[in-house]
Amino acid sequence: MKISPSEFNYTQFPGKTLASKLIESALAYKTNPLADQNKGKGKRLGCIFLNPSLRTRVSTQIAASNLGIESVVLNMDKEAWALEMEEGATMNKNTVEHIKDAAGVLGSYFDFLAVRAFPTLTDKSADMADEVINKFIKYTGRPIISLESALRHPLQSLADQVTIKEKAKTTKPKVVLTWAPHIKAIPHAVANSFAEWTLGMDYDLTITHPEGYELDEQFTQGAKIEYDQSRALQNADFVYVKNWSSFKDYGKIHHTDPTWMLTENSLKNAPDAHVMHCLPVRRNVELSDEILDGSRALIQQQAANRVFAAQAVLSHLLDI
Ligand code: CP
Repeated sequence: MKISPSEFNYTQFPGKTLASKLIESALAYKTNPLADQNKGKGKRLGCIFLNPSLRTRVSTQIAASNLGIESVVLNMDKEAWALEMEEGATMNKNTVEHIKDAAGVLGSYFDFLAVRAFPTLTDKSADMADEVINKFIKYTGRPIISLESALRHPLQSLADQVTIKEKAKTTKPKVVLTWAPHIKAIPHAVANSFAEWTLGMDYDLTITHPEGYELDEQFTQGAKIEYDQSRALQNADFVYVKNWSSFKDYGKIHHTDPTWMLTENSLKNAPDAHVMHCLPVRRNVELSDEILDGSRALIQQQAANRVFAAQAVLSHLLDI
């Protein structure tokens, strides 16, 4: 399928066929990162951050560099003007520049934009509409890659699927997404996206969390929901650990129960389970040191695969 670049918005699961192609492309770039080092010569990528980042920021820049694309990072939350999001606003308060003006300008500077825009976790309807990234999509006129928005974190999920592909011993591994305790209210994007991609790849997905922590059903249709973590973990091949705040009672923390923290004891009935986390991780809150520093952990591999996931997506964008 040929998609016009202005219509291509890399913000969600792209379907199993394209996802499989991107996974294979990422694995090929992992073997030979500079295979297409001139493919993006003359192209420019704007990486726009409205929130902090380590992995996404650096891996996307390295991916661009591997393809000969020039990347420019703008920490919009710290280095640019305070953005107004409301249509028709009378801007006589703290905001200085309207998103439609800023996004239009950035669209004129870059061939592609990559945007990180976290949810408010207080305004459910704005977050559900993925308001900020959708305004960038509307006003830049350029292809947009999500670097994590209110709803999804697709480059993380692609890297996670690359990692599962590298380690899976069967074509339908048992994958468990488990909620973990945390001290702060955390967005749903990583969990949503991981569920969406894992189901999209036709794997066997179980999601386990305390009652009241159900994710938005649009991302979990087809997954088994199991409130007993130890039952969920039995014979798991991959265990993805993540905290998220309540979706139903939006953005609230109802549980910090430490018994949900994954330890070796939690995995006594999953002897071969690999453990995944997107990082950053709160050690000995979400996950024990013994797991993070042990042989089950795939956290470093996942983070390394972020480069090749981003490279596969950028390379795909150069082709369409
Ligand atoms: N996993 C992830 O997105 O990491 P950063 O927030 O550091 O980019």
